Amino acid sequence: MDVILEGIGITRSFGGLRALSNVNIVVAQGEIFGLIGPNGAGKSTLLNVLCGVSPPNHGKVLFKKRDITGQKPHSICRLGISRVLQTPRPFQSMTVLENVAVGAVFGGHGRLKGISAVNQAESTLRFMNLHEKKDFQVGSLTLQEKKLVEMARALASNPEVLLIDEVMSGLNPTEIEEAMRLVRRVRDMLGVTVVWIEHVMRAIMGVAERVMALNYGQVIALGSPVQVAQDEKVIEAYLGKGMGATGTGR
Ligand SMILES: Nc1ncnc2c1ncn2[C@@H]1O[C@H](COP(=O)(O)OP(=O)(O)OP(=O)(O)O)[C@@H](O)[C@H]1O
Ligand SMILES: [Mg+2]
Repeated sequence: MDVILEGIGITRSFGGLRALSNVNIVVAQGEIFGLIGPNGAGKSTLLNVLCGVSPPNHGKVLFKKRDITGQKPHSICRLGISRVLQTPRPFQSMTVLENVAVGAVFGGHGRLKGISAVNQAESTLRFMNLHEKKDFQVGSLTLQEKKLVEMARALASNPEVLLIDEVMSGLNPTEIEEAMRLVRRVRDMLGVTVVWIEHVMRAIMGVAERVMALNYGQVIALGSPVQVAQDEKVIEAYLGKGMGATGTGR
């Protein structure tokens, strides 16, 4: 396995609360890696540690074997790791295209300026079937469209790794299907490695190749979706009896 991103012995505390205790995560180049667990398990904190938003108290983060622990988010983004936020925070009064062009300018190792940032934003919007909305103000969009803009913003920075935090909550079943196809296309067509937190079990179990489950800041299971869905500790902590791999989650 060709490792692209690694967290080794990650511990992160907030005051007296240990959000992550000695967590190890190894992500292979080109895989779709799922992260599950109950509310407060430490999933978002782990993504924050990986992308530099929340440096670990102990442990190391390696990107392509290079130690990036403690680097600032914009530096890490420039190296090639972009993050899609749990709650989209687009510039509401700007257009879709402008929002995505901001991602192209500020992110990414292929840092772009002016016209080329707009070109990059346009091609990202085409890829996401959002191009016809490019001149709409983001404030006028539906929740799903806002989430797609947030993902487009991250993708426009031309990342090698995309960290996605719960893009599917609040979406209807058809929108979830579309979002699942999109995550697959991001990996298959753009070659981007994906680390993806999701509560919608059907989606993550259907798309991720490996899944890691966290509970109280510790890894309780790691394996294929089927292995993890059948894991006693995961069922007890998170899935509940009788849900298994086909459950729809929350
Ligand atoms: N900035 C912060 N300051 C203080 N406590 C925090 C902070 N961020 C997270 N926590 C705490 O750390 C723990 C893990 O939170 P985290 O957001 O990582 O969980 P999560 O698995 O993403 O949960 P959810 O599924 O609800 O998004 C929680 O107890 C949370 O309250
Ligand atoms: Mg979270």
